Amino acid sequence: MEELFEQLDFIENPQYEQIISDLMDQQYSIVETFFTEEEVHALRNSLLDNYKEDSFKKAAIGNKVNENIIKSIRGDHIMWLDQNQATPAETMFFDKVNNLISYLNRTCFLGILQKEFHYAVYPTGTFYKRHLDTFQNDDRRKLSIVCYLNNENWLPENGGELVLYLNENGEETEKVIYPFPGRMVIFESQIIEHEVKPVNTRRLSITGWLKTR
Ligand code: OGA
Ligand code: MN
Repeated sequence: MEELFEQLDFIENPQYEQIISDLMDQQYSIVETFFTEEEVHALRNSLLDNYKEDSFKKAAIGNKVNENIIKSIRGDHIMWLDQNQATPAETMFFDKVNNLISYLNRTCFLGILQKEFHYAVYPTGTFYKRHLDTFQNDDRRKLSIVCYLNNENWLPENGGELVLYLNENGEETEKVIYPFPGRMVIFESQIIEHEVKPVNTRRLSITGWLKTR
C-alpha cells in the first residue's frame, strides 16, 4: 500500500507539465481551466464580500511614496489573504496553489518556500504602469500568478489588458492578455516586465507570488 502511495505521488499532471514547459520555453504560461467556473464564482463572491466591508486599501509601491505619485503608477485596491483566516473558497484556492507548488518543487527543484496573495480591484479608470514584480532590495519573488475573477460577460472593450513585454530574438514584443474570468497567468517575476492597461469597468483578480527564501 505504501508503495502505491509513493507511486501516486509521481503521477504526471498534464496541466502542471504544460505550465512547466511554457515557463521553460517562454517564461510565461496562460491556463484557462486551473479553477472551475464554480470556483471562480465563489472566489469572486469572497472578494466582493470583503470589498463591501471595506477591507481593501490602496496599493503602495514602496514605503513613504507620495500618494499622488502612487496613483500615477498604479490605481488598484488590494487586500492580502491570510491562509489561516480563509473562507472556503480561499481554502480551495490555497489547496490548489499548494498542490502546484509541491509539484514544481518536486519536478523542477524551484525551491519555493513562501507565497503571498492579495485580491485586487481596479476601479474604472485605473491602471498599473509597466513594471517588474521584484523589489530592488529583495529578489525572492520567482513566479507571479494572476487569476482573473471578472464577470462571465467580460468584454475585450472593458480594457484592463495585461501586457507582457517579451524579448524574442533581441526584439521586444508585446503579449496582450485579456482578463477573462478564470484565466490564470503565471510568469517569471524577475524577467518579465508588464503593465495593466486602463480599465473601463471594475476589474477583479487574485494576484500573488511564489518566493524562495
Ligand atoms: C501586479 C500586476 C497584473 C494583472 O499586481 O503586480 O502586475 O493583470 N498585476 O492584474
Ligand atoms: Mn506586476
